[in-house]
Amino acid sequence: MRVVTLAAEDDFEGWRDAVRPLAAARVPPQDIFWRVGEATSGLFDAAVSDPLPPGEPFSVPRAFLTLAETVVCHSDPERFALLYAALLRVLDRPDFLADAADSLVQRLERMARTVRRDIHKMHAFLRFREVATPEGPRYVAWFEPDHHVVRAAAGFFVRRFAGMRWSILTPALSVHWDGEVLAEGPGAARGDAPADDPLEQVWKTYYASIFNPARLNVDAMLKEMPRRYWKNMPETALVGELIKAAPAREAAMIAASTGDGMSRPKSDLTAAERQGLAEADEAERRIQPGGNALAAWESLLADAKRCTRCHLYKHATQTVFGEGPLDARILFVGEQPGDQEDLAGRPFVGPAGQLFDRALGDAGVDREKTYVTNAVKHFKFEPRGKRRIHSKPQAPEIEACRWWIEQERILIRPAVTVALGATAARSIFGKVVTITAMRGRAHKLPDEEGGEAWVTVHPSFLLRVPDADRKREEYARFVDDLARIARRADALR
Ligand code: URA
Repeated sequence: MRVVTLAAEDDFEGWRDAVRPLAAARVPPQDIFWRVGEATSGLFDAAVSDPLPPGEPFSVPRAFLTLAETVVCHSDPERFALLYAALLRVLDRPDFLADAADSLVQRLERMARTVRRDIHKMHAFLRFREVATPEGPRYVAWFEPDHHVVRAAAGFFVRRFAGMRWSILTPALSVHWDGEVLAEGPGAARGDAPADDPLEQVWKTYYASIFNPARLNVDAMLKEMPRRYWKNMPETALVGELIKAAPAREAAMIAASTGDGMSRPKSDLTAAERQGLAEADEAERRIQPGGNALAAWESLLADAKRCTRCHLYKHATQTVFGEGPLDARILFVGEQPGDQEDLAGRPFVGPAGQLFDRALGDAGVDREKTYVTNAVKHFKFEPRGKRRIHSKPQAPEIEACRWWIEQERILIRPAVTVALGATAARSIFGKVVTITAMRGRAHKLPDEEGGEAWVTVHPSFLLRVPDADRKREEYARFVDDLARIARRADALR
């Protein structure tokens, strides 16, 4: 028996280094014992430590390594051995993973799905609470993952909350971000994290106002958000109340409309419908601590006005938040406010905004019916004499600001989210994309809040095209894009 000791439960590099010589020498899986932690003497003192016969170096398909990196995070103690057995099969048959009928492939794929789901749960259901410290606020969250996913999930929080100081505490491991370095510490207990803070009320307000009773499916909701996560999520304090009130709210929504968007007079309603409406009104009063979508948006705006998530607030005049009706079918995302927007406090009012307005008009789109916002909410510039020269926002600024745009999309739930240019596309897709490759067709968003995504050029690109003929062509193409997007938003009604 050979013993392999890995440094941590999710030590993929350790596993990969260990299997290279073992697999090259075709050591059978049953001759290897895998363990995690400090190598201690005792049970395995008699373990084989003879040097392995040198084998042929080998390489494996990238897909296998990706699968192994995920499966290593599973809590099944057999995962290292199963992966090693799969590795030997891959060496005999490089397309082994494509054999969907093979029980080992099926088991590993199931394990990978479970791990990915656990990572997703951590991203979606972890909630930070603010703690005052001498160095300023620190955001602390408690989470209990089922698998060894803390390191795998941490990068998401680093990207998303790059400008904040935060800690994630879990029973096995804690991770701490100070704005530059991600440090690790030992596991913690639930009581080490705070239970409540003033942000909770804001969360609850958003949650109550975005809750749509007609969509309520308790089974699906529980599947997505198992009850055991609820205790750490402030908004779930409202869930019981929301579920109880949902049938009455839905009945009231149906009763109050004629089906073609018109309201029926109260005198036309049956007694049961009137009772449903009364119960719904009562439910509204109980479950909406801050009011409706408008109140939620206003509280979001108030928070955004105080935003210090990145350094840009220091020099800009003010936060330039999105504007438009909260039931807009189309949400446009620009890059960042320019000089005039910074002074006016409104998006797209300067030269690029005027061109945008003209193009919208030529495409038959009423800007007043759309919601217009920016990926970055503060003006970034270089001072040059009396002038302030636009400076392109970089990834950390876009990431820090993504939180706001996600909240806007959650509230508005547009049929179509349109990225105007590369910075907007970077923000809504969460990665760098090429405009030319993405333009002219619908894309799926990583979440379902913003409906479909479309990508087109930024209006300021049109301002910069030097050649007059080309400028006309590019403008016409932009107008075509807008008209097509508007037709699509209508079709999605
Ligand atoms: N450019 C943008 O991307 N947004 C604005 O609000 C103005 C110019």
